[in-house]
Amino acid sequence: MLEELDSLEKAFRERLGTAGSAAALEQLRVEFLGRKGKLAEIMKRLAGVSPAERPGVGKRANEIKQWLETAVRERAAALAGAPSEARSTFDPTLPGVRPRLGRRHVIQSAIEEMVDIFQRLGFDVAYGPEVEDSWHNFEALNIPADHPAADPNNSFFIDDTTILRTQTSPVQVRVMEKQPPPIRVVVPGRTYRPDTVDASHSFMFHQLEGLMVDEGVTFAHLKAVLQIFVREYFSPETRIRLRPHFFPFTEPSAELDIACSICSGSGCPACGQKGWMEVMGCGMVDPNVFQSVGIDPEKYTGFAFGFGIERPAMLKHAIHDLRLFFENDVRFLAQF
Ligand code: DAH
Repeated sequence: MLEELDSLEKAFRERLGTAGSAAALEQLRVEFLGRKGKLAEIMKRLAGVSPAERPGVGKRANEIKQWLETAVRERAAALAGAPSEARSTFDPTLPGVRPRLGRRHVIQSAIEEMVDIFQRLGFDVAYGPEVEDSWHNFEALNIPADHPAADPNNSFFIDDTTILRTQTSPVQVRVMEKQPPPIRVVVPGRTYRPDTVDASHSFMFHQLEGLMVDEGVTFAHLKAVLQIFVREYFSPETRIRLRPHFFPFTEPSAELDIACSICSGSGCPACGQKGWMEVMGCGMVDPNVFQSVGIDPEKYTGFAFGFGIERPAMLKHAIHDLRLFFENDVRFLAQF
């Protein structure tokens, strides 16, 4: 048995020299020192050795065990300090991994493009809170408490007098409270309505509001500004029409339609055979709104308009489903 132990030591010594990786060393350790390894195999037979020889053999076996363990530990430490296999196969001639660059969201680009058009016409940009009080969102805009728009079913109430704004129009009020005329502002931002999500609705969408207040502002100014906006944003040939409508905060009020961008006005499935697409609401600021912010309606007049940003962006880019804007699928977003 002593001979067996000697040859085991010799075999181990040879193999240790060729164990060039952590994996190979581990394999060697298991083979010699594992529970079913070569050394354990020999130790199992120790009981059968004569009592006279047993202490000598046992002592030798223990020495070898300790020596093997130390050798494995030292070899492992040496391997850890040496260049790993991964590092040694590093190829500096391979192309690098390109970091994926971010980009503006298509809605943000639309906002910037729209705001830019109005800035060239002398409009400033203003922002307001998305969590709004009902006075700014409704009452100051001449929307009575029993108006359908103020119904809790049509807005997200946080408490009796606090809501997620349903429109960007309250920022008109906030601007007029702070600043005397002349005023020319546009207001981009998020708005919220408890609508069921589908291809053309979302509980959150964006609007762009416009307001101009000065002495002698007329409906003709409103029409000219909107005409310029539509020609700039869509195309120089795009025709518009103003249809009488009602909004509590403007009088008179209108809706602006653009000739269908697909059929140019002759009627097609995209416009429901109407030839026109509804784009925004607008009108002359109601004297009641001026009164609620302390602007003299005898001295000043103004126009206002407001529209959803998603729809024009969908028309312009031929996007068929509003949900695509908010799903954050980079395969969609990377196209714009
Ligand atoms: N706030 C209206 C809406 O959300 C849109 C609107 C209509 C804004 C007429 C205006 C306006 O400023 O004059 O439907």
